Amino acid sequence: MLAGRRIVVTGASSGIGRALAVAYAGHGAEVYAVGRDAERLAAMARGTSRIHTVEADLTTATGRRAVATTIEHRSGAIDAAVHCAGLLGVPGVALAAYPEAEWRAVLEINLTAVQLLHQQLAPALDAGTSPVVIAISSTVGRMPRPGWGIYAVSKHALEGWVALLAAEWPQGRVYSVNPGGTRTPMRATALPREDPATIPAPEDITPLFLRLVHQAAPEPTGAVLEARDWTGRDPWEGIAPSADA
Ligand SMILES: NC(=O)c1ccc[n+]([C@@H]2O[C@H](COP(=O)([O-])OP(=O)(O)OC[C@H]3O[C@@H](n4cnc5c(N)ncnc54)[C@H](OP(=O)(O)O)[C@@H]3O)[C@@H](O)[C@H]2O)c1
Repeated sequence: MLAGRRIVVTGASSGIGRALAVAYAGHGAEVYAVGRDAERLAAMARGTSRIHTVEADLTTATGRRAVATTIEHRSGAIDAAVHCAGLLGVPGVALAAYPEAEWRAVLEINLTAVQLLHQQLAPALDAGTSPVVIAISSTVGRMPRPGWGIYAVSKHALEGWVALLAAEWPQGRVYSVNPGGTRTPMRATALPREDPATIPAPEDITPLFLRLVHQAAPEPTGAVLEARDWTGRDPWEGIAPSADA
């Protein structure tokens, strides 16, 4: 269903981003998989020619340019960008005591890098077909909980970014998706006492993400969505086969 779609996935070396890169390629898309850890990226992409890895620190101009340059050299256009890269910061610390260095580091990757990478990718998205941007939010990005610090604040800001981009970019679709608690290294750090077996694996939450990048996905731009609403469902529900990408 995604044959011909060209998709950038950041944070593809781990957790949710890795599962999305593999799932997109499995459904026929060409994937640009971005992360800092070259070894984990290479391991993820082994066995498929549809995943192109880009080693890049997205908090640097050099890293963001490397993503754009890789696209320019291959197709010049992309049809979707999924911004998964993120940091948690220091869990359980109130705002009054929150360390400045962690505040700045989390804001830089969770918000500023999304905006600056989007600026780099905008021409390639506008050259694509029915282009889509997905920002990964969080439950605490919609309803803050004490102790989530800059992580919660940055995700709230990302929700605002999605709303503004939806208003400014009528030729594309932009979504905020909350994955819900998902079995990843970040989640294990945030909630070390939680039994990982009680929450979905990254592979379980892919249906909504698959659906949204299809060129005929009916969800309106600016939609604020929950990946958990789609676990176990057919991602292509209500999308006519004739509307294949
Ligand atoms: N897991 C959950 O329960 C949950 C719930 C709600 C929202 N989320 C959101 O889902 C997204 C993915 O989280 P996850 O749980 O999958 O976390 P994860 O396993 O820790 O993965 C985080 C990814 O972000 C990348 N990253 C961090 N800093 C980067 C930088 N400066 N440049 C490039 N890449 C960078 C990491 O790359 P390297 O490892 O290569 O450095 C890694 O691939 C995040 O935005 C997170 O806030 C997760």
